[in-house]
Amino acid sequence: MTASLNGLRVLVTGGSRGIGRAICLSLAAAGARAAFVYHGDREAAAVTLNELQKHDASAFAVDADVSQEASVVAMMSQVIERLGGLDVVVNNAGILHEAGLLETSTESFDAVIGVNLRGTFLVGREAIRQMVAQGCGRVINIASDLGYLGRERNSAYCASKAGIGAMTRSWAREFAPHILVNAVAPGPVDTDMLGADVMSEAQREKESDIPLGRIGRPEEVAAVVRFLAGPEATFITGQTYGVNGGSSMI
Ligand SMILES: NC(=O)c1ccc[n+]([C@@H]2O[C@H](COP(=O)([O-])OP(=O)(O)OC[C@H]3O[C@@H](n4cnc5c(N)ncnc54)[C@H](O)[C@@H]3O)[C@@H](O)[C@H]2O)c1
Repeated sequence: MTASLNGLRVLVTGGSRGIGRAICLSLAAAGARAAFVYHGDREAAAVTLNELQKHDASAFAVDADVSQEASVVAMMSQVIERLGGLDVVVNNAGILHEAGLLETSTESFDAVIGVNLRGTFLVGREAIRQMVAQGCGRVINIASDLGYLGRERNSAYCASKAGIGAMTRSWAREFAPHILVNAVAPGPVDTDMLGADVMSEAQREKESDIPLGRIGRPEEVAAVVRFLAGPEATFITGQTYGVNGGSSMI
């Protein structure tokens, strides 16, 4: 049985689609009051919001750029006012830029670090500011198994995700015992980011390297986030949970 998240006030970044969308729906289905951030893709956000409101009529979405301080500060003050506080933040917004090192421009390196690492820093900092004032809270950062595995043609992305792991452990120490900070590190998951519907033969072949024999579903990542947000996860902080079908084991 799913633990109840009744009335929990949650914010999910990158909630319009993919893993973030599954997280929003899973938390709201368990009783949370959910808000999500997206950037740009209004149509996907409207579809997700519509679904979300079937669980929580007061759910809302904010278009904000997590890499920009002013945008994050304005978004956070709106979210806190409308939710009346903040119990859980899920830092999920992320982008991928695939290019060999020698073809990676400084601008695209900065863009990946800007959304993935700086975005997690900015949203996390503003969320934790509120949680400190409240005296409690949970932070869940979405990392990636590539943050410790590394991957050719993806060094900026891998570096951003490794940074999220380090930031998670640092915040967990700094804000214990009242604020619990954990990360979830998915392996390959079937979303637009991965382009799983257009995967090449070579990529498909890589799936057979995964002990569980397939890539993951967004809902399988959301289930771990829901557990970490919930009433049973009271003795866990500074951890990174792999959700990867066994593709990496550490
Ligand atoms: N899909 C995978 O295989 C996989 C594996 C490991 C980790 N992850 C991580 O999971 C998270 C979600 O991935 P996904 O596959 O669902 O991606 P996705 O591309 O489907 O969705 C990304 C979301 O982030 C939002 N976003 C992008 N830039 C933003 C910005 N500047 N400000 C605010 N929001 C922004 C988008 O609006 C969208 O809602 C990412 O952090 C990603 O790195 C994904």
